Amino acid sequence: MRIADAVIVVTGAGSGIGAGLARRFVADGARAVVLADLDHAAASKVAAELGERATARGLDVTDEAAVAALVGDVLAEHGRIDLFCSNAGLGTGAGLHAGEDVWQRAWQVHVLAHVYAARAVLPAMIAAGGGYLLNTSSAAGLLSAPGDAPYTASKHAAVGLAEWLAYTYREHNIRVSVLCPMGVDTPLLTGGLALGSPAAAAVAASGPVLGVDEVADAVVDALAREAFLVLPHPQVGKFWAGKAADVEGWLAAMAQLAGATGATDHTNEKER
Ligand SMILES: NC(=O)c1ccc[n+]([C@@H]2O[C@H](COP(=O)([O-])OP(=O)(O)OC[C@H]3O[C@@H](n4cnc5c(N)ncnc54)[C@H](O)[C@@H]3O)[C@@H](O)[C@H]2O)c1
Repeated sequence: MRIADAVIVVTGAGSGIGAGLARRFVADGARAVVLADLDHAAASKVAAELGERATARGLDVTDEAAVAALVGDVLAEHGRIDLFCSNAGLGTGAGLHAGEDVWQRAWQVHVLAHVYAARAVLPAMIAAGGGYLLNTSSAAGLLSAPGDAPYTASKHAAVGLAEWLAYTYREHNIRVSVLCPMGVDTPLLTGGLALGSPAAAAVAASGPVLGVDEVADAVVDALAREAFLVLPHPQVGKFWAGKAADVEGWLAAMAQLAGATGATDHTNEKER
């Protein structure tokens, strides 16, 4: 995957990792980068800093018709989409007793949004002879997120979907990568830390909090190698292998981390 001259869509690009990716893609010579976000004003602000190759679009990634319309418009203007980064996401800081709406939102934003993006963009990519999907999950998709049950479950589903897409569409020269960072310095995490969220505290206690530029470096490197797993924190790969080798030991360690950071299910009292 070459970024130079590529036509790229990034969702959740009004903030954090998505904005960092858009900046990096423009710097690396992308032909066009479309920054889509529920917060149209935020995406417009980032795009305005990036010059004429960047454009902003208001988009709710859980609205399949809107995703399809965005893809149609980009194809009409540029003739192709080389890379679609399905990146929008949110933390819930909630446990088992989170409201039905919280569980549904996590499922919609972290799983169905990837389904809608792939449905919309794959026909044109296949017709063009290939293309690339980058789906943002989280280290929580391979490991867990103490203090956030909807995030954990939906991010695991995001990894499962990305795997499925990667092998099923390989014969069409579609490549898929799944981005699985631990803590990254964005409003999603810093907002939680500011509110004293145990889930955010557990993320911060798990390893270094990276800047979005470091995440963008890891993404560009993985795309160049067409690597499925994008692990800006390399230790996530080790933790994941350790979990597979000794799941009982891993559960004991997670229970300790949850206890130490207060990320236990009493957080649900707030949700009831
Ligand atoms: N920050 C971290 O520590 C961290 C770690 C692992 C994974 N992630 C994942 O990275 C991705 C980006 O998160 P971030 O940290 O940059 O957070 P962020 O809050 O800075 O940015 C997320 C963006 O997604 C947008 N968004 C939310 N719901 C949307 C919707 N329905 N439609 C369109 N846009 C929507 C928000 O408006 C926001 O601009 C998320 O999927 C998140 O789960 C973040």
